[in-house]
Amino acid sequence: MASRVGAFALVALWLLLELTLHGAAEPLVPAVFVFGDSTVDVGNNNYIEKCKIDCRADYPHFGVDYPDQAPTGRFSNGYNLADQLAQLLGFAESPAPFLSLPNASLVPQVSTGINFASGGSGLLDDTGNGHCGEVLSMTEQVGNFTNLARLWKSENQTAADLVSKSLFFISAGSNDLFEYTDAPPVPNRNGTEFLQRLVASYTAYLKDLYGAGAKKFSVVSPSLLGCCPSQRLVAQDRKDVDKYGCFGSANNLSNQLYPMIASMLHDLSLELPGMNYSLVDSIRMVEWVFHSPSAPSYNFTVLDTACCGDGRFGAGGCNFSAPLCQNRANHLFWDDYHPTDAASGVAAKMIFGDAGIFVHPINVQQLVASRP
Ligand SMILES: *[C@@H]1O[C@H](CO)[C@@H](O)[C@H](O)[C@H]1NC(C)=O
Ligand SMILES: *[C@@H]1O[C@H](CO)[C@@H](O)[C@H](O)[C@H]1NC(C)=O
Ligand SMILES: *[C@@H]1O[C@H](CO)[C@@H](O)[C@H](O)[C@H]1NC(C)=O
Ligand SMILES: *[C@@H]1O[C@H](CO)[C@@H](O)[C@H](O)[C@H]1NC(C)=O
Ligand SMILES: *[C@@H]1O[C@H](CO)[C@@H](O)[C@H](O)[C@H]1NC(C)=O
Ligand SMILES: *[C@@H]1O[C@H](CO)[C@@H](O)[C@H](O)[C@H]1NC(C)=O
Ligand SMILES: *[C@@H]1O[C@H](CO)[C@@H](O)[C@H](O)[C@H]1NC(C)=O
Ligand SMILES: *[C@@H]1O[C@H](CO)[C@@H](O)[C@H](O)[C@H]1NC(C)=O
Repeated sequence: MASRVGAFALVALWLLLELTLHGAAEPLVPAVFVFGDSTVDVGNNNYIEKCKIDCRADYPHFGVDYPDQAPTGRFSNGYNLADQLAQLLGFAESPAPFLSLPNASLVPQVSTGINFASGGSGLLDDTGNGHCGEVLSMTEQVGNFTNLARLWKSENQTAADLVSKSLFFISAGSNDLFEYTDAPPVPNRNGTEFLQRLVASYTAYLKDLYGAGAKKFSVVSPSLLGCCPSQRLVAQDRKDVDKYGCFGSANNLSNQLYPMIASMLHDLSLELPGMNYSLVDSIRMVEWVFHSPSAPSYNFTVLDTACCGDGRFGAGGCNFSAPLCQNRANHLFWDDYHPTDAASGVAAKMIFGDAGIFVHPINVQQLVASRP
């Protein structure tokens, strides 16, 4: 698969990543609204009383490289993908978590956005609510946004205009796939039908957001989930190891899902006037890193083992007593499921500025510059 990315593309990317993409002086969008799972959660789960410790990140060693080493609820050693994309757009970091706002159902203004994402959540309402105790489902995340958007619009004419110019950043679907493959195999279970249900839910969320005034969507597809440390362990235990040493069943589902999301978005953009989107192919992106782990702007020497965590592949889970690696910048994975700050930083740069190799049909820089 990696060979699909030709030598020319690699050179182009190296050059691109070499450019220091400074945050803009003036943000490129009025606001960013973030939805999805732990890849982009900045602390909503801290505020959910029934959310279990495994689905929270508000204790050390999380945040060891964040300012003041604060464990904010980000599932990372430092910043996560939502922060890093927001930084490229000219903000200091992700907008604040929805549940941290003093009167969350009555936020008075668009401001610079809100982050609704909740670790453990998925595209289906049940996802996460079992093993995490309780999370904010995508239905709730989107519903909470549309309620606020209605309020803003009713009180203030400029709010609608600001929403239409804002970026809607969504990273969702991975946990649905994890829960599907974690479950004991059921005979005659039809993966395609399951994926179609996911895509149908995704479509409904996007239509609801569009209905509330959203126009610009940046969508992150689930990556090669079978390659995170926890799933490499499963692969060995179940004797289902693919060419990357990863969990084959999980990677096959991710591979099947990507083109379904791509065609759903394409169809939606034809159906909804003024809707525009940027979809990142996280699968090809990770394959590229496997193929070429060190580049002028990064150097990943540990691709399979978590930085924080004990046991085989460091997949024991991260906490205050778990071993912590010294060099976080050379690890692709921070813990059993999540990328390091260094890895998500590379992804953010591609989402923002890649020349069309991993981001389709346009990148986020082009998306936010488009005039609806
Ligand atoms: C939230 O706003 C409502 C309506 O203005 C008000 O009644 C309520 O007391 C506020 N709650 C808090 C916690 O400020
Ligand atoms: C968010 O949405 C859920 C589900 O509709 C609702 O129960 C909750 O009250 C909302 N939260 C706020 C702060 O509005
Ligand atoms: C209207 O909304 C914008 C953006 O949220 C805000 O900057 C402005 O102060 C609001 N105006 C009024 C009168 O509330
Ligand atoms: C799985 O479902 C899809 C879509 O309904 C169908 O086309 C396919 O034949 C099914 N596969 C099996 C093995 O039943
Ligand atoms: C995954 O897909 C590959 C290629 O289509 C196939 O050879 C392999 O058997 C599949 N593995 C599983 C576990 O479904
Ligand atoms: C990457 O790191 C390894 C180990 O730290 C080192 O041996 C190698 O020279 C580095 N490569 C580059 C391109 O920096
Ligand atoms: C901390 O993580 C290690 C594995 O990385 C695990 O063995 C240990 O039980 C965990 N401790 C707590 C208190 O959860
Ligand atoms: C989407 O953005 C591209 C790039 O800026 C632009 O050419 C295109 O017209 C936009 N489409 C819509 C529907 O706004």
